[in-house]
Amino acid sequence: MLADSFGRVATDFRVSLTDRCNLRCTYCMPPEGLEWLATPELLTVEEIVRLVRIGVEVLGIREVRYTGGEPLLRRELVEIVKRTSAFGVEISLTTNGIGLSRLAQSLADAGLARVNVSLDTLDRETFIKLAHRDRLVDVLDGLSAAARAGITPIKVNSVLMRGVNDHEAVPLLRYCLDRNYELRFIEQMPLDAQHGWTREEMVTADETLARLGSEFSLSESDPRDRGSAPAEQFLVDGGPASVGVIGSVSRPFCGTCDRVRLTADGQIRNCLFAMGETDLRSALRAGATDAELADLWITAVRGKRPGHGIDDPTFLQPARPMSAIGG
Ligand code: 5AD
Ligand code: SF4
Repeated sequence: MLADSFGRVATDFRVSLTDRCNLRCTYCMPPEGLEWLATPELLTVEEIVRLVRIGVEVLGIREVRYTGGEPLLRRELVEIVKRTSAFGVEISLTTNGIGLSRLAQSLADAGLARVNVSLDTLDRETFIKLAHRDRLVDVLDGLSAAARAGITPIKVNSVLMRGVNDHEAVPLLRYCLDRNYELRFIEQMPLDAQHGWTREEMVTADETLARLGSEFSLSESDPRDRGSAPAEQFLVDGGPASVGVIGSVSRPFCGTCDRVRLTADGQIRNCLFAMGETDLRSALRAGATDAELADLWITAVRGKRPGHGIDDPTFLQPARPMSAIGG
């Protein structure tokens, strides 16, 4: 099994299928977009399926999550889900929801188990301000299509930004409670391409909880149920519904992190904030065996640092923005 030098296992594999996106969320990308990877740089479907198989059969990966950029923009997504769900692992998707209304049923049929949809606002003007595109209706349609296709649970990720959408914590929770979506608020991390993040501007988990507490009664679930999950769960008005708060920065969970990431161009990243990467694509294309690829991967995970160090004065933001790493 994959493990690092601190004894943490890496069983949750996040695979970016493209760095492209049809939104420009402020906390991720500049409004003008980025220079996308050229197609020959992307791992092919065969290469992706092979690496997932090695992860599952040789290295003990238990969950595979497809991310982007926006994974629904990868034409072969349904095929990739179908072929990799056959390895007997749980397959999930992190998406902005645009295009999900068309694909939800095929993805469910292909074996997609779970979906996380990003939704930061319910207001059209705010959506345009935050994501620089007029696509709120498509996102909401995508969510309801996922529900109709029987995908459960449907999780919703929200990032609150001060002065933009931080007044929407309560309406977002109402919306999700009404539809049985599991909402989680994620603290904004320094992963935007513009390097505009500041700690002072970040809406903290405490602030989010205070806002929710003005309308709902929240009681903390047993922290022992949390495992490696990043969200602290709170029962809403006595339950059974709950809301999650992910204090990535102010309440880091690096000590129980079980993730390992693969970028769309075939680089292993042992942490969102890693400064180095391990090039599996070159090895793949030079004819490496399964065992050789597994060895590179094991070495990459072994070098994982104990934590993200955002509070450290020497912290440096990684060169790749969130859109090119995946969620
Ligand atoms: N900080 C926190 N969360 C982010 N996401 C994207 N960029 C950031 C950031 N800088 C979230 C998106 C999406 C998931 C992939 O990660 O909202 O839900
Ligand atoms: Fe696209 Fe996700 Fe980045 Fe928003 S956060 S621009 S949806 S990749």
